[in-house]
Amino acid sequence: MSEFKSDHVDERDNYYRSEAGYLQEHKDYLTPERTAKEVDFLVEVLKLRRNDRILDMACGDGRHVVELLSRGYNISGIDRSKFMLGQAANNLKVANLSTQLRLEDINHLTVQEPFDKAYLIFADIIDFDIDSFLESLHRTLSASGKFLIDFDSIKRVIEYLKINPESSYSFDAQSSTLVKQGESPVKYFSSAEIAKYLHKHDYDLVHIYGDYQGSDYSENDEGEICPRMIIIGEKRS
Ligand SMILES: C[S@@+](CC[C@H](N)C(=O)[O-])C[C@H]1O[C@@H](n2cnc3c(N)ncnc32)[C@H](O)[C@@H]1O
Repeated sequence: MSEFKSDHVDERDNYYRSEAGYLQEHKDYLTPERTAKEVDFLVEVLKLRRNDRILDMACGDGRHVVELLSRGYNISGIDRSKFMLGQAANNLKVANLSTQLRLEDINHLTVQEPFDKAYLIFADIIDFDIDSFLESLHRTLSASGKFLIDFDSIKRVIEYLKINPESSYSFDAQSSTLVKQGESPVKYFSSAEIAKYLHKHDYDLVHIYGDYQGSDYSENDEGEICPRMIIIGEKRS
């Protein structure tokens, strides 16, 4: 049985608090085929093994958790939306699977067991504090534990705003944040900044991918714009 272990509820996050928000908006995007391909990618780049203890950070409706469990992996999930965890619990039930789902904020992970692998895929993290996150992830990972963090890419968002000038979002180049009235700004990181943060928190930067097909990430002006910035890191032992 899935269970909730915390009383922490985010009251601000309406987008992830009902069917009408995120899930409705992405219902044609989040297909089982897409999830299966993303899981193939996770298995390959994180070198997932059946006996690894794996944590899905911000698991949402549990689409990757369900797919990995059904492939025989040992995975549990956290998210700070009670609604999304409820969806994940339903999806587990429908698939006749079970694991632990916990209400937690990734900025302050309190999970006790060491995890060998952890991932944050298709991230849209509210109140993201990279220092707190990397610090608490460090306590959560086993020695030489590997992680994946998948962000929207800075070039993609700038290009999107260029061709969609009517968007209610704007990009503040000075602070490198995506801004919208009434929402907290979302920080976009460069690969150099990521390398600095990982070093500061005692991780090695293993690789940065630019999409789920395994292309290398690039911030060059030439060539195709990478849709994602997918960071693979490893805790120094
Ligand atoms: C875009 S959805 C992605 C969900 C899932 N990873 C997927 O690919 O389907 C983002 C998820 O992050 C969760 N989230 C946002 N901020 C969070 C935080 N600070 N701590 C934990 N979860 C958070 C939301 O509740 C939501 O479920």
